[in-house]
Amino acid sequence: MSNRIPLIYSPKVLELFRNPKNLGAIPDADIHGTAGSLACGDMIAIYIKLSSDGKNIEKATFESYGCAANIAAASIMTEMIKGKSLEEAWNIDWKTITEELGGLPSVKYHCGVLAVGALRRAIRKYFEGRGDKPSWLPEDLTHEEKHAIEEEKLMEQLSKRVQSLK
Ligand code: FES
Repeated sequence: MSNRIPLIYSPKVLELFRNPKNLGAIPDADIHGTAGSLACGDMIAIYIKLSSDGKNIEKATFESYGCAANIAAASIMTEMIKGKSLEEAWNIDWKTITEELGGLPSVKYHCGVLAVGALRRAIRKYFEGRGDKPSWLPEDLTHEEKHAIEEEKLMEQLSKRVQSLK
């Protein structure tokens, strides 16, 4: 008999998991970034299309190979950044996402962190590619970006260990 305790998700998380908004890729995205690794399943990709003047986010979508919390976090995040400037989108952190979702079980915080990590990584890559870093973009990686790297390293190690057991 299993003694696992089921996770309690908020109604908002369940609703977005069942009917995610903004799911899918944007083939001609101006901005694209990923976080996590497909090797172990927790991977998220963010796509952004900018308005014709390049100032605002016209459309934002995601693909997620993560759990219900990750799908819900990415879904609500892409809703929240629509119409915003890249600076405004950058300033949305994982705690805000979690609040908007009506909370997450603490073991699922990382799913929201990973979603924001993918977004910030995408924005940083966009400006690096253009070679014109705005003053609001910090030199140092933020908590969410560092988390994405740590998670990727961890998944790589796990996947190597699993391979070595085969
Ligand atoms: Fe890893 Fe949710 S994305 S458990």
